Amino acid sequence: MKKKNLSIIQEKVYEVIKKAGFDTNLEDVHIEKTKSLEHGHFASNIAMFLAGKSGKKPRDVAESLISNIDNSIFEKVEIAGPGFINFWMNTDFYTSECQSVSDNLDDYLSASLADVKDKTMVIDTSHPNVAKPMGVHHLLSTIIGASIKNIYKRVGYKVINDNYLGDWGTQFGKLIYAIRTWGVMSAIEKNPIPELLNLYVKFHDEAEKDPKLDDFGRAEFKKLEEGDKESRKLWEFIVEKSMDEFNKIYDRLNIDFDVINGESFYEDKMPAILEYGRKEGIFVDGEKGAWIVLPKDPNDSPAVIRKADGATLYITRDLARIQYWNKKWSPDLMVNVVDVAQEFYFNQLFDVAARLKLTGARNVHVKFGRMQFKDSKMSTRKGNIILLEEVLNEAEERAYELAKNKGFELSDIEAKELGRIMGIGAVKYNILSQSRTTNITFDWDRMLSFEGNSVPYIMYTATRAKSVLHKSDYTNFSGFDLAPVTDSERSILIQLMIYPDAVKRAAEDFKPNHIANYLYQLAQDYNTFYNGNSILKAESEELMKSRLLMTDCVVAVMEDGLALLGIEVPEKM
Ligand code: ARG
Repeated sequence: MKKKNLSIIQEKVYEVIKKAGFDTNLEDVHIEKTKSLEHGHFASNIAMFLAGKSGKKPRDVAESLISNIDNSIFEKVEIAGPGFINFWMNTDFYTSECQSVSDNLDDYLSASLADVKDKTMVIDTSHPNVAKPMGVHHLLSTIIGASIKNIYKRVGYKVINDNYLGDWGTQFGKLIYAIRTWGVMSAIEKNPIPELLNLYVKFHDEAEKDPKLDDFGRAEFKKLEEGDKESRKLWEFIVEKSMDEFNKIYDRLNIDFDVINGESFYEDKMPAILEYGRKEGIFVDGEKGAWIVLPKDPNDSPAVIRKADGATLYITRDLARIQYWNKKWSPDLMVNVVDVAQEFYFNQLFDVAARLKLTGARNVHVKFGRMQFKDSKMSTRKGNIILLEEVLNEAEERAYELAKNKGFELSDIEAKELGRIMGIGAVKYNILSQSRTTNITFDWDRMLSFEGNSVPYIMYTATRAKSVLHKSDYTNFSGFDLAPVTDSERSILIQLMIYPDAVKRAAEDFKPNHIANYLYQLAQDYNTFYNGNSILKAESEELMKSRLLMTDCVVAVMEDGLALLGIEVPEKM
C-alpha cells in the first residue's frame, strides 16, 4: 500500500540519509508539526541525531541532506537553529492526502498505521463486582478500557475485550449466609442490588459483634465451592440479577464485550496452576501451611497464593487467567485497566507470572486515578456511594436543558435525543480528555459548556461543518482540488496530517487523551477558519471546492476520533 501523511516525508528523508551514507533506521526519523507556521509545517531533528552519532556538525549534516532531497512534495526545506530541518509542503501534497482522506478514511489510516500485523491484545475492562452497584472506578475502567480497545483495533491489532467480573470469593459465602439468615426473597427479587448490598452490610455489622459469623460465611463458601445445589442456585441468581443491572449501564454507554469470563470461570482452572507452581518450586510453604511466593525484596510481604484452609485468593484466579488467556489467544499484549489502588497488587501479580513463565506476552496495568466531583452533592453523599445511574441521568438531563436553551431549532424529541448524545458523550469525554494517571475531576459546568475542551464544543463544530456539506450541491468531495490557501486553512491541513500520529501515540501510551487533545485543536483550527471565511459563498468556485474538500476531511477525522473515544455525533444541532 502507498504510504500516507508524515510517513511520506519520513521516507523521503530516509532516502537521502541512506544516499548520504549514514547508518540509521527509518524509525529514528521523527517528523513533527511545528509550533508556528514561521518555522514551516513540519520539522525534524534528524540532523542533530545523526551528528551525535557521527561526530559531524548538525548544520553540516542538515545541509548535506537537504541538498539531495527531491522536492516533489516540498515547497521549501530549510535549516533552522542548531540544525533542525523545517519542511514546507506543497499544495499537491495536501491535495493528494486530502483526496485520500475524503475518499476513504479507513484505507488512508491503514496505509498510515500499517506497521502492525498479526498482533493480538486481550484487555480486561469494566470488571465490576457482582451483588454490588457498579462504582465510579468501574465507570472509568469501562470507558477508558473501551476506548483503548477501539484505538488498538484501529492500529491493526486483533482485540479481545474481556469483562473479568468479580463473581467469586469468600464474600459470596457471607452473602449467602446473610440471605439465608435475614433475607426476604420477595424483597430481593423486587429490588435485587440494593437489597443484597444491605444484607452484605448487615453481615459485616453483625460479624463485628459475633466473629463466629465469619466462620459461617466461610463454611457457606465451601459449600458453594463443593457444588451444593441450593447454594449454586442462589449464586447464579445473584450473578444474573447483577448482570441485568450492569447491562442497563452498558447499553446506555454502548459498550460490549467479546467475552465475559468472571473470576468464577477460573475456579476449575486453579488446581492446575497450583500444582504447576508447586512443581516449579515457586509456591513455597508459608505460615500454618499456606502457600506463598517469596518477595524479591525481603522487606516486601510475600504473595499468598493459597490460604491455610486451602482456599484460593484473588491472585490465584488472576494467575489462572493469565495462563488461560495465553493458551486461548496467544496474545502479544495483555492489558488490565484497573484503579491505581491496585498498583502494588499488579506488580506482584506480573512478577509471579514472570517467575512462573506463564506467558511471553507483555503484561500492562493501565492505571487510572480517582474521580473527584466538584459538585458537593455528589461527593458528600452518605456512604460515599455514587450511583452511576444517577450520574448518567443527571448528565442527560443537564444536556437536554442545554440543548433546549441554546436556541437550536429542535423538536422536544430531537432535544431529548441530543441531550442523550451530549450527556453520555460529556461523561465519556470528561474522562477520556484528562490524563488518566492523575485524578479525574468531574465538573458539570465545564463538561457541558459550549466553550473550551468539551463535547458540546467539539460536537457543535463537527455538526456545523457537516451541515455545510449537506447544504452544498455535492455529495462526494474527493475529486476536488485544494486551492492555494490562507494560514488558517494551512493550520487545518497540517493538523489533519498528524491524525494518524495522534492515534499511534494514544495506543503506545494507552492514553486516549492524546486523541481528545488532537480533536480539540482541530476544532479550534476549524472554528478560526469558519468564523473568518465563507465556504458556500466563497469568492470563486475553485475556492469553494477547495474548502469543501477540506471540510469533508475535518468531518471525517472528527467523527473517526470521536468514535475511537466511543462518542456519537448527532445528526443535527
Ligand atoms: N473486580 C475487581 C475490583 O472491582 C477488579 C478486577 C481487576 N482485574 C483483574 N484482573 N484483577 O476491584
